[in-house]
Amino acid sequence: MDINSLNKKLQGLKPKEILEYFIKEYGQEAALSSSLGAEDQVLTDMILKIDKSANIFTLDTGRLHPETYDVMDATNLKYGVKLNVFFPINKDVEKLYETQGINGHFESIENRKNCCGVRKMEPLKRALAPLKVWITGLRATQSVTRTDMSVVEYDENFKVIKVNPLINWSEDDVWDYIKSNNVPYNKLHDQGYPSIGCAPCTRPVKAGEDIRSGRWWWENPEHKECGLHAK
Ligand code: ADX
Ligand code: SF4
Repeated sequence: MDINSLNKKLQGLKPKEILEYFIKEYGQEAALSSSLGAEDQVLTDMILKIDKSANIFTLDTGRLHPETYDVMDATNLKYGVKLNVFFPINKDVEKLYETQGINGHFESIENRKNCCGVRKMEPLKRALAPLKVWITGLRATQSVTRTDMSVVEYDENFKVIKVNPLINWSEDDVWDYIKSNNVPYNKLHDQGYPSIGCAPCTRPVKAGEDIRSGRWWWENPEHKECGLHAK
């Protein structure tokens, strides 16, 4: 089925029903990529209630906050699962360190993209290679770069169907779901971090500030994608 027909077919369905469709149709060839942030925890709860053996993976960049590992652990314990984890290739991380040091990503956009390339993009490519469907927790109101996204898209970079079940949800929708379903969440969300990535590249935001303003805060908004969701 082409992307337009899929979007039409799924129009008006709730995220849970969208997930049911893809998990039933594609089984292990559909997977959620989870950053363990609030949106992904909502999707994890929905998915594991549909199928406990569904495919969920995290990219462990080696630079995550301790609180992110805590929520990974809490999730595995609560649902009786073991999320799949993809690590960067050790030789590439060693080379990155040789060429730009441990925090070289602050020095230029090029260095930052090199770091995201080694720590996120290559592992994501590996994770997506055997898949037909990539499920994400993207929401339209998260960023200027995400306003025109649809529930179902074709990702030309990775050659997979990309599904964004929460694309039309608000931040309040996410938190209502988390609270009413008792979903484990990253404790940093209680400390002013609405959006959480790697520790050195994420900082808390003040009330009223843009929710992604704490990510790569030293760069312009239009650069603030690590490449995972580039068009
Ligand atoms: S990012 O591109 O800026 O890092 P963001 O943190 O907003 O993305 O998350 C958007 C979606 O990208 C998440 O819902 C998730 O599907 C995917 N994602 C981001 N970071 C990771 C990660 N470390 N592991 C797996 N998926 C991730
Ligand atoms: Fe490196 Fe920061 Fe990108 Fe993480 S977000 S991979 S630490 S540049």
